[in-house]
Amino acid sequence: MSLITWSDQLSVGITEIDEQHQKLVQLINGLHNHMVAGDAKDIMSKVLDRVVQYTGFHFETEEKLMQEYDYPASAKHKHEHADLVNTAVDLQHKLKSGNAHITMETMHFLQDWLQHHILGSDKAFADFLKSKGVN
Ligand SMILES: [Fe+2]
Ligand SMILES: [Fe+2]
Repeated sequence: MSLITWSDQLSVGITEIDEQHQKLVQLINGLHNHMVAGDAKDIMSKVLDRVVQYTGFHFETEEKLMQEYDYPASAKHKHEHADLVNTAVDLQHKLKSGNAHITMETMHFLQDWLQHHILGSDKAFADFLKSKGVN
């Protein structure tokens, strides 16, 4: 069973952002599947790298749009992105050095973070973009 189920509730109504969020959900579900399967550390590490890489790409997409449309709440939003990136990079290092595993707690953290961020900050940003005619 998937960790996160995509539903319309998670849609923010901006096509490019929704597509990237769906891809992120897929990647996090993939990481969860590898964890459940008890896959080896080097595999987990590679799968986590891919999640981190795509997350970075996604944050860049949103932040470019913030700059393009002069989003007034960009500082707070970017700060949330930076916090997650720092946490993820820290986890990558711990995993690579053998000081941590990807646990169910890690997965729930990622799930909560993503859902909370999409429903809060990303929805607010998407509403702003829609007010500027983006769809
Ligand atoms: Fe965001
Ligand atoms: Fe997002």
